[in-house]
This record gives sequence, C-alpha cells and structure tokens, in this order.
Amino acid sequence: MTERTLVLVKPDGVERGLTGQILARIEAKGYKIVDLKLVQATRDILEKHYEEHQGKPFFEPLVEFMGSGPVVAAVVEGNRVIEGFRSLAGSTEPTTAPPGTIRGDLGRDWGEKVQKNLVHGSDSPESAEREIGIWFA
Ligand code: PPS
Repeated sequence: MTERTLVLVKPDGVERGLTGQILARIEAKGYKIVDLKLVQATRDILEKHYEEHQGKPFFEPLVEFMGSGPVVAAVVEGNRVIEGFRSLAGSTEPTTAPPGTIRGDLGRDWGEKVQKNLVHGSDSPESAEREIGIWFA
C-alpha cells in the first residue's frame, strides 16, 4: 500500500542544523523523498495547514512559531509511510517521546509555551493529500 505523507522539519529543527539527520532517518527506514524544499511559510499557508486546530489554545503560538523561521517541507513515499513516519517522529511532547524516535532522541522541553517538537507528519491519507496540496501547490 504505497502512500505519500507530508513531512515538515519545523523551524527548531532547521535552526539547530538537524535537517540532515532527520532526512537520513527517513531514508534509512527505506522511505523515498520524492519532493523537497526550504520554505518561509506565510500566515496563510499555516492557517490552512492547521485549520482543524483553529480555536485551540495552542493554535496562535503554534502558527507564530511555525512562521518564525524557515521549514523544510518534504513529500515522502512508502508503504504505510503515514503511520510509519509518525512512529519515527515519536509522540507530540519531546520530553516523553520514546528514545529511538526523532523527538525522543533530538528534542526536549525548552521551557517555552510552544512545543518545539522538530517535525510534523500528516495523520491520515486525506490530511496528507490536503497538506501536500498546500505546501506543494
Ligand atoms: S490534538 O489536539 O490532540 O489534535 O493535538 P495534537 O495532535 O497532539 O497536536 C496537534 C498539533 O499541534 C501541536 N501542538 C502544540 N503546539 C504548541 N503548543 C502546544 N501546547 C501544542 N500541543 C500540540 C502538535 O505538535 C501538532 O502539530 P504538528 O505540526 O502536527 O506536529
């Protein structure tokens, strides 16, 4: 079942110089990077990307953080890659994400109100197609 997912290396990952390590983990797992770019996201892109979270307390800080510096956007392909990349990324909070995952190995709590959790991965085939359409219009 070949799928595509949208992966973002968030501004904290790019700023800390972790893009190479993160992409290497994706490739080492056997997934294929089929499109890739460095983007300074506009508010419009971010509001569309996070539209399901509008109104949640973290929405505003999240949009602000995601626009605070460049992100790397990638389309990644593979069998069950949507679920597989989310396993590679680890759970939302870097402090409690399991070791062996991107967030568990490379992230931590920085004592700020936003989760600087290094990566985003689509959570369903529908979200993946919608998000790829936003970032690679
Ligand atoms: S939810 O409400 O269960 O759908 O939330 P979750 O799936 O865990 O997270 C949705 C996205 O919001 C980010 N998030 C946060 N950002 C900043 N601060 C706080 N407190 C916070 N909580 C959740 C989380 O990283 C998800 O963003 P992406 O880009 O998908 O990783």
